[in-house]
Amino acid sequence: MSELLLEVKNLKVHFDTENGTVTAVDDVSFSVKQGETVGVVGESGCGKSVTAESILRLLNEKHTHYEGNILFEEKDILKFSYSELQKLRGNDISMIFQDPMSSLNPVYTVGNQIVEALLLHQNLTKKEAEVKAVEMLKLTGIPLPEKRVNEYPHELSGGMRQRVMIAMALSCKPKLLIADEPTTALDVTTQSQILDLINELKDEFNMGTIMITHDLGVVAEVCTKVVVMYLGQVIEEASVESIFSSPLHPYTQGLLKSIPHIEGPRDEKLYVIEGKVPTLTQIPKGCRFAPRCEFATELCRDKMPQLESYENDLKVRCWHFKDIQEKRGGLNGIRNESQTVNS
Ligand SMILES: Nc1ncnc2c1ncn2[C@@H]1O[C@H](COP(=O)(O)OP(=O)(O)O)[C@@H](O)[C@H]1O
Ligand SMILES: [Mg+2]
Repeated sequence: MSELLLEVKNLKVHFDTENGTVTAVDDVSFSVKQGETVGVVGESGCGKSVTAESILRLLNEKHTHYEGNILFEEKDILKFSYSELQKLRGNDISMIFQDPMSSLNPVYTVGNQIVEALLLHQNLTKKEAEVKAVEMLKLTGIPLPEKRVNEYPHELSGGMRQRVMIAMALSCKPKLLIADEPTTALDVTTQSQILDLINELKDEFNMGTIMITHDLGVVAEVCTKVVVMYLGQVIEEASVESIFSSPLHPYTQGLLKSIPHIEGPRDEKLYVIEGKVPTLTQIPKGCRFAPRCEFATELCRDKMPQLESYENDLKVRCWHFKDIQEKRGGLNGIRNESQTVNS
């Protein structure tokens, strides 16, 4: 049995703004086990980064208020002191971001930066750390690591920089890696190589991983479990197989329909979920997706559904998911339908 590493329980994140308090993350719960890759997906602005940054307490806490718990190995990160947080960051939990340039220091060589990270968290001599830095670069598949180690970030391509970030993030063997849209800025081929790399390293280190993305293609490549977010809330949680074969929430169904299919006809129009995501200051009273949902009824517009457990560890936040499913011929019907779409 793999062990529970992280448990986010009923997390709420409120920000003080000029227009009053907004709640960017509203009752989010999910867990990550050792060796498991959990995908957190949803459109831009749904609260993925705020959730991730809360786990490492990276948000400016002058304007941020938390509710709930973030248990890492059963200890609540939200109650950690500054020194406990310092120990946690880069030691037990590492994070990589969409734009490696924002995390790499332009005035130091990449080798220097990895050495710095190693010296900070591991008991090594400078010489040992230098050897280890080359080893880490090699591990991430960078060609000629002995040469690259002496180069500056601007001398590397986007894909190479992301590999350097991964080398830095993994140099201390974290138990949990949080990857926030790590491949969004990369071309498709490099994206695929980086995802393969994260997959391989995850197995080698038996790391838990949170893969944050707006791209269900990324989820299909690396995740075992998926948490779908909409406007600050989890609206569905399921295994990756379930999400793709029998999505329960109308929003997840819409997200899936909007993935382009290589096999489809060239002129096929991509499905777009109609309507705009409401802003945090105009959150609908009932189900947050109701204004854009083709199945919405009076009940949906009036009362917010809770995240309900369903069979096989599925969870869904929708008043009508059973009716919708029945109309589409039950879970099996949905499976067949989406298989035809994919094949
Ligand atoms: N410091 C902040 N103050 C106020 N609102 C914020 C702050 N940071 C993020 N938000 C809002 O929280 C919501 C979620 O943002 P974010 O987590 O970055 O979305 P994404 O899913 O694209 O990563 C957005 O509406 C964003 O504008
Ligand atoms: Mg984000």
